[in-house]
Amino acid sequence: MSNASRLSGRGLVKTFGSTTALAGVDVDLANGESLAVMGPSGSGKSTLLHCLAGILVPDAGSVQLEGRDVGALGDRDRSLLRRTHYGFVFQFGQLLSELPAVENVALPAMLLGASRRDATASAMRWLGSLGLAGMEGRRPGELSGGQAQRVAVARALITGPSVVFADEPTGALDQSTGHDVMRILVETTRAAGASLVVVTHEPKVADWCDRRIEVRDGRVVGSAVRR
Ligand SMILES: Nc1ncnc2c1ncn2[C@@H]1O[C@H](COP(=O)(O)OP(=O)(O)O)[C@@H](O)[C@H]1O
Ligand SMILES: [Mg+2]
Repeated sequence: MSNASRLSGRGLVKTFGSTTALAGVDVDLANGESLAVMGPSGSGKSTLLHCLAGILVPDAGSVQLEGRDVGALGDRDRSLLRRTHYGFVFQFGQLLSELPAVENVALPAMLLGASRRDATASAMRWLGSLGLAGMEGRRPGELSGGQAQRVAVARALITGPSVVFADEPTGALDQSTGHDVMRILVETTRAAGASLVVVTHEPKVADWCDRRIEVRDGRVVGSAVRR
């Protein structure tokens, strides 16, 4: 593992019954680097993301965050680590539908101990910087798909994570809206100094990332650095 590596996976293997989802994957993510994970459906992309994020424990191999062995942590410490160090953007529908946008964004900060007042002020700033000023009071059902995903980006970043994980975050959006959200995700994450792992089908989206890897049948079969 190089010194600059923030997150690394070594020899990751994960099986579900007779299905080998990951067959030995090595991956490194540098500080502030964005990585696009590409590959056909069922190739193991989500499983890789879940192993790197400490949501799944691999059957073999190890994951290190900033030199710390994540696999050595118990369930409680791993879930605490997710809250303190990671942000997540998943497909549409992850926001709490009863809460206005500002509360959805403020919640992760409050879970880490911020006062409601500070968390709300910070959430208002994040929403404003993502072009959602004036929409803070709307519930997710009162936002467009693209707006809702921008709220999700704000929610992922409010805690100042080391790494943001995004699994096909624009899968439910039309292409042009999806591109806008992805560009905002990549640029905002980069500006915040966080690293990014994003699963995407879109070559154009991968172009905005610093590096891409191609996964097939649970293995990394190719990688490319942005020109
Ligand atoms: N919880 C699970 N139980 C059983 N099989 C699973 C589970 N999660 C993933 N798989 C299988 O592992 C393989 C990789 O899945 P996944 O990582 O979700 O692929 P991708 O995200 O690239 O579409 C697939 O064959 C999938 O059916
Ligand atoms: Mg998937």
